[in-house]
Amino acid sequence: MEVCTDAAALQRSLDDARRRGTTVGLVPTMGALHAGHRSLIDRAVSECGHVAVSIFVNPLQFGSFEDLERYPRSLDADLTVCAGSGVATVFAPGVEEMYPSWPRTSTTVSVAGLGTRWEGASRPGHFDGVTTVVAKLFSIAGACRAYFGEKDFQQLVIVRRMVADMTMPVEVVACPTVRDADGLALSSRNVRLSPDERRAAPVLRRALGAGCDALVRGEDRPGHVVAAMVSVVADEPLARLDYAAVVDAADLTTPPSLSIPVAVRLLVAARIGPVRLIDNCEGPVTEPVLAGGAAGTGVPVGGREGR
Ligand code: PAF
Repeated sequence: MEVCTDAAALQRSLDDARRRGTTVGLVPTMGALHAGHRSLIDRAVSECGHVAVSIFVNPLQFGSFEDLERYPRSLDADLTVCAGSGVATVFAPGVEEMYPSWPRTSTTVSVAGLGTRWEGASRPGHFDGVTTVVAKLFSIAGACRAYFGEKDFQQLVIVRRMVADMTMPVEVVACPTVRDADGLALSSRNVRLSPDERRAAPVLRRALGAGCDALVRGEDRPGHVVAAMVSVVADEPLARLDYAAVVDAADLTTPPSLSIPVAVRLLVAARIGPVRLIDNCEGPVTEPVLAGGAAGTGVPVGGREGR
């Protein structure tokens, strides 16, 4: 496995692979690799002849210096994961390699509209930071398949829009969220939860389940679906809700009514103690709505998730 810290070396290695007729897969990460990342890497390795993993804690996407400082870093362990997973190239640049005039930056890639709601409203500038670094990674990597987790659903939608709008030679591949047995979505931030907070954290998943149950019961008022999610989070003393939403999966807006069949996504963000967590799931596929259906049907969260 080649480990490079400069963009030119990554470019060379991926150009060579393409010249040999090999499909290039790119897995952009901020390191602290867990089973969620491993599922992206495994998928990429199964579909591409040459897989590159980038490991870069991108300062542009952090709102506050403290959160950036607290972000877990484990490069040696990450390299072991990559080497054991069939990764061909790891790109682990320093901040000056990615942003030569750091701490000043003059070029920002921004996807209007999509980037300012939900996570974008709570973390102003976050998605500009994400799209700027991802555009740069795509520009270095060249034509490839790029693997992103559905756990960061808004990020996935935004990256897809950027690729389409800019005609980037990248195929974005979405991979299902990986969860612990109790439903908590894997996230690098989970290691910062105390034991009590860790026990409380699956409340996000339960809130999504309550939203899905409401939809399956035939609830077509977005406000009522959201209320079902909110009340689950309100019952958990260690949780502080940031937002709960049911949105059109294509543009992340809240539809005025859910009576017209539309692919919806349920989103939730909450602080568990000091740690901010997000989760989402696909709305259940229930057309037409099951009017009069039984409450709490135990419908799995998300229509296709986990398949
Ligand atoms: O999802 C992440 O880990 C990051 O947002 C990404 C895509 C690697 C950009 O820094």
